[in-house]
Amino acid sequence: MNYRLLKPICFILFLSLNTNLMSQQDYDQKIEALLKQMTLEEKAGQMNQYNGFYDVTGPAPEGGNAALKYEHLKKGWVGSMLNVRGVEEVRKLQKLVVEESRLGIPMLFGFDVIHGLKTQSPIPLAEAASWDMEAIEKSASVAANEASAVGLNWTFAPMVDISRDARWGRVMEGGGEDPFLGAKVGVARVKGFQGKDLSLNSTIAATAKHFAAYGFAEAGKEYNTVDIGTNTLYNMVFPPFKAAVEANVQSVMNGFNILNGVPVTADAVLQRDFLKGKWGFQGFVISDWSSIAEIAPHGFAKDLKHAGEIAANAGSDMDMESKAYVTHLAASVREGKVAESYVDDAVRRILKVKFELGLFDDPYRYCNEDREKERLFHKDHMEAVLDMAKKSIVLLKNDTGLLPLKKDQKGIVVIGDLADDKNSPLGSWRLASDNNSAVSVLEGINSYTKDYSFVQGPKYFDDNASFLQHVSINTDDTAGMEKAVEAAKNASVVVLVAGEHGFMSGEARSRTNIDLPGLQHQLIKAIHEVNKNIVLVLMNGRPLALPWEAEHIPTILETWQLGSQSGLAIAQTLFGDNNPSGKLPMTFPRSVGQVPIYYNQYRTGRAKQEPNVFWSHYADEKNSPQFPFGHGLSYTQFKYKDLKITTTGQKETTVSVTLSNTGKIKGQEVVQLYLSDPVASVVRPIKELKAFEKVALEAGASKTIRFVLTEKELGFYTNDYEWTVEPGTFQIMVGGSSAQGLTASFELE
Ligand code: NOJ
Repeated sequence: MNYRLLKPICFILFLSLNTNLMSQQDYDQKIEALLKQMTLEEKAGQMNQYNGFYDVTGPAPEGGNAALKYEHLKKGWVGSMLNVRGVEEVRKLQKLVVEESRLGIPMLFGFDVIHGLKTQSPIPLAEAASWDMEAIEKSASVAANEASAVGLNWTFAPMVDISRDARWGRVMEGGGEDPFLGAKVGVARVKGFQGKDLSLNSTIAATAKHFAAYGFAEAGKEYNTVDIGTNTLYNMVFPPFKAAVEANVQSVMNGFNILNGVPVTADAVLQRDFLKGKWGFQGFVISDWSSIAEIAPHGFAKDLKHAGEIAANAGSDMDMESKAYVTHLAASVREGKVAESYVDDAVRRILKVKFELGLFDDPYRYCNEDREKERLFHKDHMEAVLDMAKKSIVLLKNDTGLLPLKKDQKGIVVIGDLADDKNSPLGSWRLASDNNSAVSVLEGINSYTKDYSFVQGPKYFDDNASFLQHVSINTDDTAGMEKAVEAAKNASVVVLVAGEHGFMSGEARSRTNIDLPGLQHQLIKAIHEVNKNIVLVLMNGRPLALPWEAEHIPTILETWQLGSQSGLAIAQTLFGDNNPSGKLPMTFPRSVGQVPIYYNQYRTGRAKQEPNVFWSHYADEKNSPQFPFGHGLSYTQFKYKDLKITTTGQKETTVSVTLSNTGKIKGQEVVQLYLSDPVASVVRPIKELKAFEKVALEAGASKTIRFVLTEKELGFYTNDYEWTVEPGTFQIMVGGSSAQGLTASFELE
């Protein structure tokens, strides 16, 4: 083929693509015109994603040499790159492809913008604890704004995997255990990243991941087998993905796990029948890092070429760093192993996203040096993530009313290695952030009062722990313990900061123990012996099991990892300028032995039958969690009354309840409605969240909240994936957590 002759033709085509408000029909035609000109190798190239020239988020790619990648870029055999960022670098590579490849098709630049680029918002699990969709959307839009300023146009977020197993390090990345809340959080994040207009240079394409069921990795172990039934798949795992598709998410990432014995990357039922078929997904599927190549070690393909064929046939449109498509796909098509129509469909989907992002209009639209300088750590971004951080805090206990502290409180002693840690609050998955750029708890407290003292106590974590290393814990070095206890003796209140190092959760950070690592428990006990006035500030990326602390420490504030403004948000909460309003998006167990523990369990045939021993329980632990899903207190008190149900015909049931703020200050409460369908053709959970509203009330004020339940809330998917609403009795519970509330029931005829 004479490339020299073709280039001018393509240049004309490229120019003719340059229209601002191109309708879908317009670009469909352009895509068809482009497809006609593409060789099989170029089509496979569009389906190929290469890592940048350094490896940050996966094992070093085999033979990942830059020279070969440069050659492929120039040939137009790379549709996208990941982990390349910064205007200069992105522009350089985009220019290479646009100017030197035969067709000059611009690339997508993807990155794990999980909870911010430079300015970090709280980890996603923390954000989910806010139950505040507006704030979550805003936080994602801040992340998109900064990411787009460094040349990126695509994020591999949100992770919408439902996760019930706190041992799994990636629970920090998602919206928790519940499909209803998880879907809302996922949609808010998609909307935040993509905005109303994807072609703006401040919005980026989002990715719902990991399709599907990755959150159910056995024993919470990363990259492990998943084995769940259709009832759970359809009713628990799918809803957030389906909702993200309905919110027009531009890409979906598959995963590393198998499901029903099929690697999900090789699963045509998931990707073709459900995602692109039943749900009408219009975007494209990106594989996870080398998940196409891993089809072979799973024992599902004989080699890389075979793996690529299976993946392409199954609807995996883009290959992240396996090099299966770029190396073999054209040959596989020629040999009749993969239909060219599948390849065309994948390329159409990828090109469509490029059009929607406006890349054909201007391949450098995300490459503006001035904007790059101006947007990073912008004051508005810092304000937004502070707001998000304040909303994400959950008050787990405040038995003796220690909180809020008085602003002129004297004699505060702050203890804990994490108290002056400026790195851990950034959490995991903060690849582009600056190390030690968070406001520490100590700095936050210092901005309120100078009348405090700080004792680090024993070191919990190794200072040099980094994303790529395992976190080392100084388990037996008790230096500092005595000093901490001594200081605590005379304190009016001890603010004790404990939890996990920022890199103890996230990808490949599974734990078998979910207690406080190192000497922290010992420290807390020793301090409790000399002073009971302890405010335990938890900083962690997953639910922890802290039975002793939950029983003995009067005040516990769950602050997760709150990002750049962490310390300020915590201090404002400690001193009462922020009244906590978060609610747990995941159940906290009493012991790791209860895991996976979640509120929406299926009914068992052997519910409580004491004193008979043969019922579903543990011999050595209660069944109930330490802190249930939906739990969270406030500095004020809320009362629920007058639960009423009105059925207006068969289509709608209205539930109303009156909420009163009976305390002394303004506060916010998340009113939660749980539904239960006690007899059904498929066993239903004991209860399921079906509606919620976050309500702000002045002290003494009351408000009546109304929820409307329709077939959407009353139905479920059968094992044949039929949506069904079955007549009979429905029970509802409305309250401030999944564990208790006002109850009533109604009949559906
Ligand atoms: C592997 C992770 O599973 C995925 O979520 C991430 O987006 C990719 N690596 C790229 O970093």
